[in-house]
Amino acid sequence: MSLIRSLLLVVALLGAMTSPARAVELVVTCGTIGSPGNFCESSVRRWEHATGHRVRFVPLPQQTTEQLDFLRLSLAQPETSSDLDVVLLDAIWINFVQQYLLDLGAFTDGAEQAHFQALIDTARFEGGLKALPLWSDVGLLFYRRDLLEKHGAPVPRTWEELETIAAEVQAAERNGQSDFWGLVFEASAGEGLTCNLVEWMSSLGGGPMVDDDGAVILDTPDLRATLRRVKSWIGTIAPPEVTELNNETARRFFQEGRALFMRNWPYAWSLSQTEDSPLRGKVGVTSVPGGAMGPGRGVHGGWYMGVNAQSHNPEIAADLVLHLTSQAEQLHRALFQSQNPTRPALYVDPDVRAISDFFEIVYDGLQGAINRPNAQLRQSYIHVSTVFADRVNGYLAGTEPDPSVMLNSLDVHLARMRRRGW
Ligand code: GLC
Repeated sequence: MSLIRSLLLVVALLGAMTSPARAVELVVTCGTIGSPGNFCESSVRRWEHATGHRVRFVPLPQQTTEQLDFLRLSLAQPETSSDLDVVLLDAIWINFVQQYLLDLGAFTDGAEQAHFQALIDTARFEGGLKALPLWSDVGLLFYRRDLLEKHGAPVPRTWEELETIAAEVQAAERNGQSDFWGLVFEASAGEGLTCNLVEWMSSLGGGPMVDDDGAVILDTPDLRATLRRVKSWIGTIAPPEVTELNNETARRFFQEGRALFMRNWPYAWSLSQTEDSPLRGKVGVTSVPGGAMGPGRGVHGGWYMGVNAQSHNPEIAADLVLHLTSQAEQLHRALFQSQNPTRPALYVDPDVRAISDFFEIVYDGLQGAINRPNAQLRQSYIHVSTVFADRVNGYLAGTEPDPSVMLNSLDVHLARMRRRGW
């Protein structure tokens, strides 16, 4: 081979390896302020390595509803509409931004068929398949296995049992100090509180949030009783600051060893088992407690990834989404981040099963999970959920003795809103 041909070949090979003209930087949301890429950082790094492309993470606010506001603003404004390439989406609000998202159908080559059908249906709109599922969530009860054993207490099946055990173990563990509590959960104003409310309403009474005629009637004796009961926990078995805790601050509270029970999402499991966790080997997981209205059922949640239709690199962005939602990456995140796969095949995978009975519990929880009423409330869901959680948070944090004034004014407000259509 002539020298020139050899040189040309070397340049061509170098070009193919570094592909300067083709290597792009994608802007991706995959985490919150403080840990901008935390959900998918290692998966993304593997993709960068394999493709030569780069990813820059943009952090989202902590609360899911604020994340939605941020995305709506960025995707809708002409000046910023092409700034993001790949976006993380809470299952509950894909329909609020789906008009800004690319139809992934052209890029998947049927990959969506390996996910649970119902999860794919959630992401299908008139404009096509707008997102792929990253992981699935269900509300769970975490408990300190070591402390229940130490005090000879069973794993509670009902709220009543939980209340008794929480009070007894809390008193015994405090031993003169006041910084150990029976129960933590996310009761700050936000979507997490709505999730807890839906669970309490289904087990303790007062639900469903939307009746068969599509009406929201909250000022009922059952819901008043449920809210009084929850309020009675605050300052007795739950810390007063519970009304300021979101899922992550509640998790930290529990992980610092300051509570016996915690209602939270599956991700809390793997964090409690890391090598530097004070709770390693001491935590158990079960379904949320039941009550007079029936067995405990966790709320269904989960997250997706979509591509901004205005992205300058739609094909590359879709490739990243396919990578993040792939079987290999879901398996990795199931093993190391307890993110529940959205693929049925992974629930029977021996590696996933071998971790513990965790995924079996989660799988059972997912089968019986309750949905929030977003299908019924359509475009109004976010508003209804936000005002409901705000007002309940005010009631739980405040001194108002009876919830009926608050519930009644919510009913009036929502009935007026419904007249214009959900
Ligand atoms: C979890 C769920 C999500 C829910 C959120 C509320 O992340 O997966 O669906 O909206 O919690 O805080």
